[in-house]
Amino acid sequence: YDTKTPLYSTSDKTSFAYVSARDRWPVILTGAIDDVHKAVSKTTDPEVEAEGKHITSEIAKLKYELQHDRQLTPLPDDGVPDIASYNKELEQLGNPKWFDVPWLFSECYLYRRLSTLFSLSKHWKSYDVFSKQKTQTFRSSRPAVLELAARYNELTKQLQSNKSGSQSEEELVEAEKVLFTEMCEICLWGNATDLSLLTNLSYEDIQKLQGSKARKAQEANIVSNDFPAAFDILRKAQKSGKAERRVDIVLDNAGFELFVDVILAGYLIQSGLATVVVFHPKNIPWFVSDVLPKDFGDLFSVLVDAKNFYETPTEDDKARDIHPEPLSEKEQTDLNELFQNWSTLYGEGKFVLRPNRFWTEGGSYWRLPKTASALFEDLKESELVIFKGDLNYRKLTGDAAWDPSTPFTEAIGPLGPGSGMRTLALRTCKADVVVGLPKGKDEELRAKEGGGGDSGARKWAWSGKWAVVQLCDGKA
Ligand code: F6P
Ligand code: MG
Repeated sequence: YDTKTPLYSTSDKTSFAYVSARDRWPVILTGAIDDVHKAVSKTTDPEVEAEGKHITSEIAKLKYELQHDRQLTPLPDDGVPDIASYNKELEQLGNPKWFDVPWLFSECYLYRRLSTLFSLSKHWKSYDVFSKQKTQTFRSSRPAVLELAARYNELTKQLQSNKSGSQSEEELVEAEKVLFTEMCEICLWGNATDLSLLTNLSYEDIQKLQGSKARKAQEANIVSNDFPAAFDILRKAQKSGKAERRVDIVLDNAGFELFVDVILAGYLIQSGLATVVVFHPKNIPWFVSDVLPKDFGDLFSVLVDAKNFYETPTEDDKARDIHPEPLSEKEQTDLNELFQNWSTLYGEGKFVLRPNRFWTEGGSYWRLPKTASALFEDLKESELVIFKGDLNYRKLTGDAAWDPSTPFTEAIGPLGPGSGMRTLALRTCKADVVVGLPKGKDEELRAKEGGGGDSGARKWAWSGKWAVVQLCDGKA
């Protein structure tokens, strides 16, 4: 139940797979070594220290194997059943080397292998080697967070007072649609700033990506856009009078992206377009910045203690003699109000967190109906399952080299027509795979500056500048 279309492979020098394996993964592993090294230097417990040192040397070994194009070695058993399927797949692939292996599988393997180093330890079991990076980047998105918090609170008040407004039904629906689209766009572009790509973005770049002006300008960069159809699905469900209407969000990154995901979730509930939102985080540190259940809690803690979070200088601030500006009264009130609002929704059971090991397996989502049938059945109960981000998109489409005009509904295989699951992908493009484009669009984008030209590489799709929003209603 995998696609027969050839997969992107690290052996293809024109693909982002190759660039990732050669340039990006070593940087990510070096960052992980540094992080553990720093944590080790702070401990006074010799046992913790010894174990930490062992972990850093194992990460260094992994980096060496990668850079010297060795074989991917079987994963040690840490007691979770997915290890067996990782190892079975390695065998089926003929024990491949790092620079001749399907991109999707090898990248998942990389993070799964990293996680075994911690899960098999005694003192570092729940250590998240990317946690500090996630927190720091979130802190640097302060201007956008403050802007959105204010906007959300305003909207909350409007939605509460508007219920018996004087507008006609038609006007109301139109206004709702515009708002829905805006909220979804905020949520979509929040994905442009993930940490695994941060190796080539400065903090200033990130902030530019996050403001409201930036969003308007970026509307034209959504090269395939099913927002209207997604709205219709939720609107219809609302009209049907069904009491429970659930939306699921298969999360991507922590920090700013998670913040905007929760903004969207809160909006959907307050507008009546959904009654419950189920969030799906990962179980292990994943693709650097993906959400773990703890990140969800951390986000709430930041809001409740915003003053402390934003005003206490970090190590880096101290080194550079930076004194964070204090939050204004209004900003504090805004963040506090937002916290109250979200906590209430959480307390009322309208925000639900539901991790599943399936999300960190090595294969694509074509396997969902067969290998995680309970999860699949559960997702079919949802009015709309929103998949955030690039990796989710790669997994939906099997990370295969489709012709870019292949319909999205075809490229998601068993999740396509007749699956009974309503799938919406919100993805800024950071990898080669792309489907559902009008004929000629790929060529047009390749011809732009930095788009790849005649190099054979689809460079336009690597940077997060362009996005696709694609829907499959799951009907036969
Ligand atoms: O393409 C670069 C990359 O890091 C891929 O490895 C991965 O698919 C993706 O970006 C991660 O991005 P996202 O957080 O949007 O899934
Ligand atoms: Mg991610």
